Amino acid sequence: MKDPTNERKVEHINIINKDQNVDRKKFYFDNLSLVHRALPEIDYTAIDTSVELFNKRLSFPLLISSMTGGDHELVRTINRNLAIAAQETQVALGVGSQRVAFTHPGARSSFELRKYAPNALLFANLGAVQLNYGFTIEHCRKAVDMLQADALIFHLNPLQEAVQPEGDTNFANLTVKIAAIAEQLEVPVILKEVGAGISAKDVSLLIDKGVHYIDVAGSGGTSWSRIEHYRHSEGKNEEIGITFQDWGLPTPMAIKALQKYRDQMTVIASGGLRNGIDMVKAIILGARLCGLASPFLQPAMESQDQVIERIIRLKREFQTAMFLLGVAKFDDLHFNPDLLIEP
Ligand SMILES: Cc1cc2nc3c(=O)[nH]c(=O)nc-3n(C[C@H](O)[C@H](O)[C@H](O)COP(=O)(O)O)c2cc1C
Repeated sequence: MKDPTNERKVEHINIINKDQNVDRKKFYFDNLSLVHRALPEIDYTAIDTSVELFNKRLSFPLLISSMTGGDHELVRTINRNLAIAAQETQVALGVGSQRVAFTHPGARSSFELRKYAPNALLFANLGAVQLNYGFTIEHCRKAVDMLQADALIFHLNPLQEAVQPEGDTNFANLTVKIAAIAEQLEVPVILKEVGAGISAKDVSLLIDKGVHYIDVAGSGGTSWSRIEHYRHSEGKNEEIGITFQDWGLPTPMAIKALQKYRDQMTVIASGGLRNGIDMVKAIILGARLCGLASPFLQPAMESQDQVIERIIRLKREFQTAMFLLGVAKFDDLHFNPDLLIEP
């Protein structure tokens, strides 16, 4: 019998490829204006876009966000292309949920990426809700070891689970379990949504509980509610997945809401970021790293060179935006409200 967890990943990719509106294209960052400098007073070629995170230096603050893994040639190719490109360009890479590796051992090799990316910043990934369905610290350790990861991402996806007919919807008492793992695990834990955002209230539950990294993964880009709609309703249009397709905290608002936790949390921005200007805006609002997922799917299905090309384009956009703001290094961009014009 085919393992449903293994088949699901390819189904997701097929849906994303078929329906352009799975990317909600809200472009929320376009509502923020920046202070253009006609006299930047800096040399473009001397701009330092690099940033340090988890003791590794990235060429600029890009994370190829968690997408896939499984026992399929397609997903093995995607992950290999992403890993080689991440190594070559010195950016961070997260893999998709590794739960499948525990039910389907053939999926393991799709996550064994350290051989392609010996120095890159790599993040393992599991759904936090699985802690209510039998997963323990040992599963977390195995996920980290598989990838020789620098950190473990726990994704939170209550919306995605709620719109499925038989989703894992028991999210009761998860905070305590996440905190227990964060305290015991040998690498840091990052908490992440999948496109509906993490609120300040959520973060307040985790202060002083060993979690210091939050990827807001807000709304505006990939909609998991819409993807699940296609998986369960065979194209009918008035299903719950469509009703909730734009549910969630828009990414720029979610980052802003976490500014008060500046001293306790490192924030990662993702969800609907589509170019280097969005990235610069996210950093100005307080993020230290910017994640993009779906924009990398097509290039990764093609070749490592296409992924590298996409990354180089993002870096050029990022550096150009820094130049036009008159900012020569990351620290002068990070949390700098003077660069923004409030509407
Ligand atoms: C094909 C695909 C698969 C994904 N699978 C996962 C996953 O397994 N685990 C996870 O934490 N997020 C997953 N995500 C969510 C992304 O990491 C990201 O949070 C979300 O797509 C928003 O970013 P985007 O608008 O740039 O796509 C996936 C996204 C895509 C496009």
